[in-house]
Amino acid sequence: MTDAVLADTASPVTIADLRGDQWWRRAVIYQVYVRSFADGNGDGIGDLAGVRARLPYLAELGVDAIWFTPWYESPLADGGYDVADYRAIDPAFGTLAEAERLISEARNLGIRTIVDVVPNHVSDQHPWFQAALASAPGSPERARFWFRPGKGPNGDGIPNGWVSNFSGPAWTRTQNPDGTPGEWYLHLFSAQQPDLNWSHPEVRAEHEAVLRFWFDRGVAGVRIDSAALLVKDPALPEVPAEPGPGEHPNTDRDELHDIYRSWRAVADSYPDSRILVGEIWLPDIERFAKYLRPDELHTAFNFDFLVQPWDAASLRGSIDTTLAAHAPVNAPATWVLSNHDVTRPVTRYGQEDSAFAFATKRSGTPTDLDMGRRRARAAALLCAALPGSLYIYQGEELGLDEVQDLPAHQLQDPMYLRSGGADPGRDGCRVPLPWAGTRPPFGFSPAGATDEPWLRQPRRWADLTVEAEERDPHSMLSLYRTMLTIRRSEPDFRDGRVRWLPSASDVLAFARGEKFICVTNLSGAPIELPAECSLLLASAEPTAGFLPPDATAWLRSERSQAHDRPSWHLTEGGE
Ligand code: GLC
Ligand code: CA
Repeated sequence: MTDAVLADTASPVTIADLRGDQWWRRAVIYQVYVRSFADGNGDGIGDLAGVRARLPYLAELGVDAIWFTPWYESPLADGGYDVADYRAIDPAFGTLAEAERLISEARNLGIRTIVDVVPNHVSDQHPWFQAALASAPGSPERARFWFRPGKGPNGDGIPNGWVSNFSGPAWTRTQNPDGTPGEWYLHLFSAQQPDLNWSHPEVRAEHEAVLRFWFDRGVAGVRIDSAALLVKDPALPEVPAEPGPGEHPNTDRDELHDIYRSWRAVADSYPDSRILVGEIWLPDIERFAKYLRPDELHTAFNFDFLVQPWDAASLRGSIDTTLAAHAPVNAPATWVLSNHDVTRPVTRYGQEDSAFAFATKRSGTPTDLDMGRRRARAAALLCAALPGSLYIYQGEELGLDEVQDLPAHQLQDPMYLRSGGADPGRDGCRVPLPWAGTRPPFGFSPAGATDEPWLRQPRRWADLTVEAEERDPHSMLSLYRTMLTIRRSEPDFRDGRVRWLPSASDVLAFARGEKFICVTNLSGAPIELPAECSLLLASAEPTAGFLPPDATAWLRSERSQAHDRPSWHLTEGGE
């Protein structure tokens, strides 16, 4: 590999940045899946009381913001991504007053709050959809959704061949009040999540009002669910075999940018910065970056890095493309190893083919959890050393693995249910956190709780509780804490530059700023670390100056690396 210099991907630190206005450019954002974080009242379901009690834990971990997956009133057909009322907290989690207290308590600890908005669809229990079902075809109530007659003389032919992201057809037929079959409605996810019609002015107005509702309650940002799916070609044509840029009838349509410009205007109408974070799964990184233009979203999840296999060329390629795509729009990159939709990294990296794609989980894949844990530790340090913001999904900092042996009757994910079990679904990364003690519920619910956690925790997690990991200086939690402490104070992380250093092809080595160096060893053999560097942190202890395979080290060079010919290079391997 040759050394290369990448363009600045983030603007230099400004006065505004120091005041905190640009906090999101380098933030560490912790994702709380409320149902599984901590249970305050002992019913086996996580809740706001549980989160409030654990805020000191998050402060100590060193996060800048919490992103809450949907906490709104919901029948939970898709873990809360089926919202019945965007202005109410689900009673299982608490009340709106409690959410307001939580937002301000977090802020007092220096932690901002990001809420999830789900604009593509609502719950089938949402008053709009209930009104639509109760109204006639062609009525204004139905115009907020995608109702269509079926094909054929009896209308029993599906309106088009679009497929749900949870498998099966994207259409469900309704029943008329007299019990006869009626029109069909579109749902890109489960049948309990009817898609909204975004060319309807009321749909746009309502979502802007929802943004204000939460911004007025002090939230610092919103995460936008399925952000590239909202707009549909009104003719609802079939999906072409190979749609060109902007040609897909329900994904990444050009009209979306106009929507996000108006959302940005709402966010910018507040005196302090309120941010918009897009959930955008798009293979075309240039189209992806268009959403990050200065008058649109602030950031979007970088899934390109997450889906890569554990392979130096793939990871380096993804880092390069990511930084290069963000530079022209001057948006910070984001680094994401996990969330509530993907296989836990310890399990994913424990599999020979660790490449990932949404909705392609399979059970029974041979997994080496020790290897997975080593690689997940190395990946964490690699991501945290890159310029941009960093996402941590609850339990990632404990090194939890995917739970693949949940009892079938507990599985709830529509991805599992709609695929007839072919896809094991996402419940396995949503199992309640282990906090303390030696057996379930591991402190997730308070002592004396009668109800068990809503998903069964594996007994083997006794070693992975917060309590156990706090005691162990070599635990994943200790690694994350130290990593975030260094990341916060490291002066070389202040600008967005990454400079690759010469190294063997299965080693990733880059410098940031004057003297910081990050080395990841993806080869099968230990590599020698240079003598003129001191070790800041490593995901696995170097032995006699050699970094083991599947490990990352953070180093401080004695000499400046900030010029064209680095003074440093790795001696091992074939350059
Ligand atoms: C997003 C969410 C996922 C949900 C889907 C439908 O991908 O992250 O959990 O199932 O949107 O709302
Ligand atoms: Ca509870």
